[in-house]
Amino acid sequence: MARKIVVTSALPYANGPIHIGHLIEYLQTDIWVRFQKLCGNKCFYFCADDTHGTPVMISARSEGISPEDLIDRVHGEHLKDFTGFEIEFDNYYSTHSEENRQFSEYLYNSAVENGSIAKKEIEQAYCGQCDMWLPDRYIRGTCPRCKAADQYGDSCDSCSGTHQPTELIDAVCANCGAPPIRRKSLHYFFKLDDYGDRLVELVKGGYVQVSVLNKLDEWFKTGLKDWDISRDGPYFGFKIPGEENKFFYVWLDAPIGYMASCKNYCDRNGLDFEEIWNGEDWELYHFIGKDIMYFHALFWPAMLMSGGVKRANKLFVHGFLTVNGQKMSKSKGTFIKASTYLKHLDPEYLRYYYASKLGSGVDDIDLSMEDFVAKVNSDLVGKLANLASRSGPMLTKKLGGKLGKLDAEGRELVDKLIAAKEDIVAGFEGLNYSSVMRRIASLADDCNRYFDQKQPWITIKTDEEGTRVVLTAVLNAVKVLAIYLKAVLPGFARKIEAFLKVGELCFDDVEGLLEEHEIGKFQRLVERVDKEKVEAMIEESKEDQGAAEVVEEKVELAEPIEAECTIDDVMKVDLRVARVVVAEAVEGADKLLHLELDIGGLKKDVFAGISKAYDPADLVGKTVICVANLKPRKMKFGVSEGMILAAGPGGKDIFILGVDDGAESGQRVH
Ligand code: 2FM
Ligand code: ZN
Repeated sequence: MARKIVVTSALPYANGPIHIGHLIEYLQTDIWVRFQKLCGNKCFYFCADDTHGTPVMISARSEGISPEDLIDRVHGEHLKDFTGFEIEFDNYYSTHSEENRQFSEYLYNSAVENGSIAKKEIEQAYCGQCDMWLPDRYIRGTCPRCKAADQYGDSCDSCSGTHQPTELIDAVCANCGAPPIRRKSLHYFFKLDDYGDRLVELVKGGYVQVSVLNKLDEWFKTGLKDWDISRDGPYFGFKIPGEENKFFYVWLDAPIGYMASCKNYCDRNGLDFEEIWNGEDWELYHFIGKDIMYFHALFWPAMLMSGGVKRANKLFVHGFLTVNGQKMSKSKGTFIKASTYLKHLDPEYLRYYYASKLGSGVDDIDLSMEDFVAKVNSDLVGKLANLASRSGPMLTKKLGGKLGKLDAEGRELVDKLIAAKEDIVAGFEGLNYSSVMRRIASLADDCNRYFDQKQPWITIKTDEEGTRVVLTAVLNAVKVLAIYLKAVLPGFARKIEAFLKVGELCFDDVEGLLEEHEIGKFQRLVERVDKEKVEAMIEESKEDQGAAEVVEEKVELAEPIEAECTIDDVMKVDLRVARVVVAEAVEGADKLLHLELDIGGLKKDVFAGISKAYDPADLVGKTVICVANLKPRKMKFGVSEGMILAAGPGGKDIFILGVDDGAESGQRVH
């Protein structure tokens, strides 16, 4: 039976352009939605602009227009960019809408009725000159730690430390340069912890990918804090019911925008919103980036629990984009706006490339420009488009455009493609697009090999009917590949449908054969990527140094700090300089090295998980720092009597803390 599915992507802020970093998510979602529709499932894709908050208010002020005018304009720009990339929403709405106001008030009122709203007075920075409360990101000053100038109120780009805005030296308002003042006011808080047990149950029940469970676990351990959901005016947002100058914080009404977009669509199309959003036989999925997991895994479901609204079946969390291995950078020209990309390159290149990189996890994705050009030219153009362009025109020009029948060998080729359907469907469903794309490219290799072996360009001169049989097999293969690729490359598939004269293909059409069928005129499917156009796009992006989206403050998603320990706990740790006497691999262990340490004459055996980073031979004779009083631990390979200090993300990147080689073993380290 066909499934019924609602899908959302995170709502982009209405104060900045869509860029290629955003597109990871919209393309990942769009491919999934198209895939569901091609499987015959009912699937709606809802999104909207995220319009409220301080950054939008400031952008509008600086342009001398009203926030409403700004968000109207940006809505048009965003939609144009999305359409340019063939991202097909069923509704692209706005959080600044009546539906959203009503849902926000409803969920807030429910929280009040449930006793989940607390009021507390807090002190915050305020700029008298701008007449505005300053979020941490709008306060700049000198870092209290490393003294780097012009850092944000919450963190320092130079030393990566975090701090309070009050700790910044010579703090100023980022907007006007005036020193901020501290002011007290009453804020409304959502008592997240009231929902702690139910949230744990939710996330343990498959609400998130396994790869993000640990992160959530850490948050639960750290404790769920009350969430500040109000902002004092002036603020661009919805007024809190019963208040004159207090507004909902943008992050309160942003996810509610998913519901508002659905409601607006239902009302315009005579559909039952209550059934689609809240009905048990409808599935609901939110695609989001890992930076906004806290909101979607904790605040959002908690608010829905409070209001008695259904939670999503699952969050699909993805990683960030890096370009050429680094963060997108304006000066390097890798902060590429969607509209700039579209001026220079075919959107299907990026759709293909991202699909070939996307997996189901939260790993970041790298867009290497060299790899982009190579992959698109070799796979998309060289393997997939080439197969069609070598066979289609030959059939139309030389054989009257009429397919014949498949012979046994052709049937075998096509059957191999058909047999891949189950894996391909499972791959799309599970978001393993990269493996799907690899599989498709390898099937195309098989087809090209068949074509090369059969040499139809030679046989056509002597054996027209034999050649027709070969081209029939190849064009049937092209049809199957077009179905497999259609969610990723809708334009490419449309051109194939038109030239094969087959109407709109879907997964049900994979098995059907095209025999004795007349095909139409071939049109070029895709051009090779021109390196110069890529360079021109980067050059234009370098020049385009206009304002980027300024984001509302986000919940800090760096590794959460562990539960507190006291100075006494720290003092219990006895750190000593130790000399490595023996270092050897541990048979059967993947990461462990066995070390024998000499700590001022005392010998200790230690198993350390550093074998990927260090060759045992290089360690013998080295001085390291060791936790000498660690309680011995029985491990699979023996008892470990200590621990050496090392840091790093893991794998090859683990670094033993260095000690002067002159340091005396056994010496205490403070
Ligand atoms: O992080 C962001 O870009 C937010 N505008 C996403 C909002 S998603 C949803 F909750 F509205
Ligand atoms: Zn100011």
